[in-house]
Amino acid sequence: MITTVTMNPCMDKTVTVDTFQYGGLNRVQNGREDIGGKGINVASVVTNLGGMALCTGINYENGGDFIQGKLSDRHIRHDFVMVPGELRTNLKLFDRSKGVITEVNESGSPVEAGSIVALKEKVRRYSRESSMMVFSGSVPQGVGSGVYRELMEECARGCRPVLDAEGPLLSEGLKAQPYLIKPNRFELEMILGEERSTKEGIVEGARELLRSGVQILCVSLGEDGAVIVDPCRAYFAPALPVKVQSTVGAGDSMVAALCLAAEEGRPPAEMLRMATAAAAASVMTEGTQLCSRSDFDVLLPQVSVTRIGE
Ligand SMILES: Nc1ncnc2c1ncn2[C@@H]1O[C@H](COP(=O)(O)OP(=O)(O)OP(=O)(O)O)[C@@H](O)[C@H]1O
Ligand SMILES: [Mg+2]
Repeated sequence: MITTVTMNPCMDKTVTVDTFQYGGLNRVQNGREDIGGKGINVASVVTNLGGMALCTGINYENGGDFIQGKLSDRHIRHDFVMVPGELRTNLKLFDRSKGVITEVNESGSPVEAGSIVALKEKVRRYSRESSMMVFSGSVPQGVGSGVYRELMEECARGCRPVLDAEGPLLSEGLKAQPYLIKPNRFELEMILGEERSTKEGIVEGARELLRSGVQILCVSLGEDGAVIVDPCRAYFAPALPVKVQSTVGAGDSMVAALCLAAEEGRPPAEMLRMATAAAAASVMTEGTQLCSRSDFDVLLPQVSVTRIGE
């Protein structure tokens, strides 16, 4: 089982208008509400691809039943620490005439230290039944940047922690030696403190992070593809040339496929192949919808993986 930890869940509300009028009245043509939060996305893709997932993390007494209801509809197990406050809404406003999305994200209610203690207990419990545990995304107000490090330290032996976060959450989290991290180029450069313009430079930077105890590093490069690096090998896969509908959740789909591949004991080149197919399947799907199994199956044989540095 793959458990995901979502500390900052949300409702993603997407509304479409014909032409967005800045400062004017905008009439909504159609709207759609979906659950969001990076861990929730990862669990949804794991499930779509045929794996078993469980969602834990923080959820809000006010509005949080929306998250639980949708997860139950998808047959995804969930067990959140419920806290006072209201589920935040992330509004995505789609201007149909220009094809442009404007995002307005709420920051969410603050979370107190006692709730983190309760979450540590859930992490301890579910890590005993999980092959991988994914810590991803932002955290609510009032939660310190060391939270992922502290939670990862609660993982039982045999459960591999996976970290997909940015800034201090990532740099602090590295101290707990996650099994796998999936920074994008920007997140990697922030950790290294310098730009990396070539694949070789990225591999070299990734190797520096491997020395801190991470075992596998997948660096996603947006439309330029992704690389995967372990202490002995490095591979590159270009992004597939699919029609881009929405890049929302491409990274999360990638994390889900990496976890499934690792759970199945696949080598890094195969992990990267599956991750690239899942990301492309997510990119070619509209809005906040993610990767489907049928698209994944069609795309998987189209991914080309090459070794770097031979
Ligand atoms: N425009 C695109 N066309 C095709 N594939 C893409 C495109 N953008 C991203 N991808 C695929 O998705 C993968 C992940 O993308 P990206 O590097 O943007 O992740 P991210 O920044 O972590 O995204 P997220 O916002 O989901 O966290 C890429 O490695 C690539 O395979
Ligand atoms: Mg990302």
